[in-house]
Amino acid sequence: MADNPSSTIQLLTQRVSHASLGFPGPSQNELDTIIRAGMRAPDHAMQRPWHFVIVEGERRGALGVVLNESLKLRGVTDEAQLNKALKAPLRAPVIIAVLLKFKDHPKVERNEQIGSAAAATYAMSLAANALGFGSMWRTGLYATDPHVISALGGGDKDEVIGFLYLGTREGPSKLTPTLDPEDYIAHF
Ligand SMILES: Cc1cc2nc3c(=O)[nH]c(=O)nc-3n(C[C@H](O)[C@H](O)[C@H](O)COP(=O)(O)O)c2cc1C
Repeated sequence: MADNPSSTIQLLTQRVSHASLGFPGPSQNELDTIIRAGMRAPDHAMQRPWHFVIVEGERRGALGVVLNESLKLRGVTDEAQLNKALKAPLRAPVIIAVLLKFKDHPKVERNEQIGSAAAATYAMSLAANALGFGSMWRTGLYATDPHVISALGGGDKDEVIGFLYLGTREGPSKLTPTLDPEDYIAHF
């Protein structure tokens, strides 16, 4: 775990995504820590606008079937695309599907709730990296697909903010992109 400020800063400034993730994935205890990190995301008026759906083991195949069905419902007939959907969740041992559980609130609009659920997703990716795992945040058209959302337990006003793939990094980490902060800063 990142247990001192310098390793925390290193984690924040050097995190990269990992597309190739193998076994083992986080244990149940480690997943508990990761979820706790997600639940500490900033959250206006404590709406808790999220639900974390853990997909692991054989259930990954079941999620693949749901993704495949969603494509068929949208009229996709391309076999390669349909097969890719079936296999997509097998790219990591554990996936956390972060559902936006939208709550009607007079002050906290949808954008803010999406922001909170996105912050939770990012916090969980950082926690996973701090525990020594790799992570990759994915969405695609599945994230707003009613069939997928319903299968994950979401309702009409909900959506998937991220499928957070977690596992052991396979292969070397890519280099951190070199961006110049000056290109993204203004002084008001
Ligand atoms: C909301 C969101 C959705 C994303 N969806 C995908 C996706 O579906 N497929 C993908 O390859 N990358 C997706 N990404 C980008 C990757 O998670 C990753 O950030 C990107 O490949 C850059 O790598 P890096 O995190 O190492 O900079 C998404 C990122 C965000 C924030």
